[in-house]
Amino acid sequence: MSNWIEIAALNDIPQLGSRVVKTDTMKIAVFRNSNDEVFAIKDECPHKQGPLSEGIVHGTSVTCPLHNWKIDLKSGEAMGPDEGCTNVFPVKVEDGKVYLDL
Ligand code: FES
Repeated sequence: MSNWIEIAALNDIPQLGSRVVKTDTMKIAVFRNSNDEVFAIKDECPHKQGPLSEGIVHGTSVTCPLHNWKIDLKSGEAMGPDEGCTNVFPVKVEDGKVYLDL
């Protein structure tokens, strides 16, 4: 069952940046790219738990601020030679508001 929760206005999330949503058990980074697409991914790099929310968005990926792994924002998977995966969550934008399904 879906459990959509309003988390922010789209304009509260900086383009090419993110906003962190805290749940009881983890932090989720919600990113916005240059096309105003949003992605929600656990704020933890599959390499050494770097804070992906502090990384820079390029298209549909984010570069980890610690050791520059690139993580696909759609799948949560590391790209290129690196291997690993972090959780992704459904997210949608309606009427300028961002909803996350936890
Ligand atoms: S912790 Fe993200 S690349 Fe190392």
